[in-house]
Amino acid sequence: MADSQQSAEILSRVCVFDFFLKSSLYGLYKPEHEGLDKLTATADFHARFATAERVAGNKGFEPSDPADLIAELDETEIETVLALRGALTASSHPAEALSMVYERLFVQDARRDLGQFSTPNYISEILAKWAVNEADDTILDPGVGAGMLSSAAVREKIQRGAEKPLHDIRANDIDELAVSMAALSLKLVDGPGSPVLERGNFLEFGAQDWSETSNVENQSIDAVVANPPYSRSQAMETAVKEQANQFVSSEAGVEFHGKSPMYVYFLAHAAQFVDDGGRLAFIIPSGFMETEFGVPFKQYLLDCFQIQAIVQLNEDDNTFRGVRTTTSLLFLEYEQAPEDHETTFINLPSWPDVDSFSELLEIDFTDDSVEDRYRVDLLQRLLSPEDNWQHYFSSTETSEIDGLGDFTDIATIKRGIATGNNDIFCLDRDDLADHDIPDRFLQPIIKSAQDIPGYEITREDWEGWRDTGKDAWLLYAYEDGEKLTERTPLEEFLSYAEETFDTDRELFDRRNPWYCVDKRDPAPILAKYMSRTGSQFIYNENGLRTLNNFHNIDPDFEENEDWVKALLAYLNSNIVRKEISKVSRSYSGLEKIELGALKSAPVIDPRKLDSQVVEQLANLFDSLEREERTDGDVETTRMAIDDAVREILDIAIGSET
Ligand SMILES: C[S@@+](CC[C@H](N)C(=O)[O-])C[C@H]1O[C@@H](n2cnc3c(N)ncnc32)[C@H](O)[C@@H]1O
Repeated sequence: MADSQQSAEILSRVCVFDFFLKSSLYGLYKPEHEGLDKLTATADFHARFATAERVAGNKGFEPSDPADLIAELDETEIETVLALRGALTASSHPAEALSMVYERLFVQDARRDLGQFSTPNYISEILAKWAVNEADDTILDPGVGAGMLSSAAVREKIQRGAEKPLHDIRANDIDELAVSMAALSLKLVDGPGSPVLERGNFLEFGAQDWSETSNVENQSIDAVVANPPYSRSQAMETAVKEQANQFVSSEAGVEFHGKSPMYVYFLAHAAQFVDDGGRLAFIIPSGFMETEFGVPFKQYLLDCFQIQAIVQLNEDDNTFRGVRTTTSLLFLEYEQAPEDHETTFINLPSWPDVDSFSELLEIDFTDDSVEDRYRVDLLQRLLSPEDNWQHYFSSTETSEIDGLGDFTDIATIKRGIATGNNDIFCLDRDDLADHDIPDRFLQPIIKSAQDIPGYEITREDWEGWRDTGKDAWLLYAYEDGEKLTERTPLEEFLSYAEETFDTDRELFDRRNPWYCVDKRDPAPILAKYMSRTGSQFIYNENGLRTLNNFHNIDPDFEENEDWVKALLAYLNSNIVRKEISKVSRSYSGLEKIELGALKSAPVIDPRKLDSQVVEQLANLFDSLEREERTDGDVETTRMAIDDAVREILDIAIGSET
């Protein structure tokens, strides 16, 4: 077909479809409003639709450009269209039916520019069910299309007891047909009232405009459900792209990358409408996780949202008919994430038998009957925008990266000492004054992980604990490396302990004699066993012994301080903290780092690094210690460590794909 013929064909299709939508919508409003006259083949449609728009307050009636072409149809043709009006009333998912008609009428190329692909039902449901929290929530659906997501939100609101759910829907689309499709499908889902619909570029709407043009009193939005246009930066006109970038960057206070696709701007702009704590449920392409433009976007997500989950749909059958894009569902709450908040990453090669987000979280992902199905929960504060987030959708460990081995290849790792009763074995200066304990049976210890002010334990730190009356010594009944079996030198204290405390304990019974705790030499690196903020590795430069609230790490090269510090810098990078977080258990916000997980953690061997790299890492560790101790900018130093580690492991993200 010649171009001109083709566009005439498209125009007539738009005109007839538009007429079908508006006359169907009119039919649904007629019983509600006495002032609406019957629609016959000879009626003045313009006038009728204008009246309907006014009395119903529904922009689905707004005139469209090719509407005048209807005059070209004869009466019989118009009657045929009018007779088809009832066709959708029997459909349980009118938005889906309309999307399919739309996709048939307008071939893919015509839809691609506006990124027009409708969300499948199962996705709409899961997003809407999660986003709608209360029956009276106000919901925004930017780029509404045929109304798949809004319809699911309305159904969920009805489920929760809403009486006039349409009133709470705010939706917009740049395409005139889409606005009318959404108007019709929403009206078919639930009867009374009208949704607030707007036609135009969503990025040019402010919450303020919305209320002015549509007399909406309540401007605040409780939740956003969206499947925004996927238009890539290359497909957008330069002026449109620049304007979107400038406008949204400035309102969000973030410098988004100039090559960001439309969905980045849609999400950040939608957030401007949302109340604190509101929910945003989006389906967007996964590209942002591994591209340059994604870096500021990921930073924005991390700073402004509690990211509940990112669910990647790695389906063989593409999620959207005819679209080859891997997409992800984002479940976001618009508030800063607390320190202990965990983000869930889920990879789904096929959609499981669930229809809500909570059911999805209940799936046992350790059962590996479905290949490539994977879930991991990571502390959000450990996620870095510089990392390729695709790494979180599979169990691929960094250990598969060249140059990394198991921790046990370069170090001996042991749990600290379990005394069985710290009241007996951990002693403060008053205990020493009150009892007769020879110095040779006293070893300096670090008892509480919380007392460590930085990343190193200095002599002054220990003296401070000692002088403020903390338990700074451990009763360590060894002489010349051998257990003290002849108890005379400690008789006074041991008799006192046996009288005062219960020494008839299982752990004590297993020891011989009971007062000799396990033999442990001090280790230069300590790892906290429990942590609220992710793993932390500390330089034990003064050789303190520890209790079992620490893991003791003794590298094979402990005599070389630079190597030890370089390893410490690596271990404290976000990259490693995340790997450890992946395999750690979480107990109500506390991350428990098991010995097994630590032993198999992937590590570099500093002996194999260039001396310059070792020096760089060692210096970075020193600045980490300095910044932490002085309440300085720890994160900047950690990011510098991450950069250095990425360089060594060669795992930087690629440029835009
Ligand atoms: C991927 S489709 C999704 C449609 C619908 N939300 C759904 O879930 O089925 C994106 C929609 O955004 C609309 N759109 C594209 N650019 C837009 C813009 N700048 N402002 C508002 N809507 C836009 C398109 O017309 C299309 O209907």
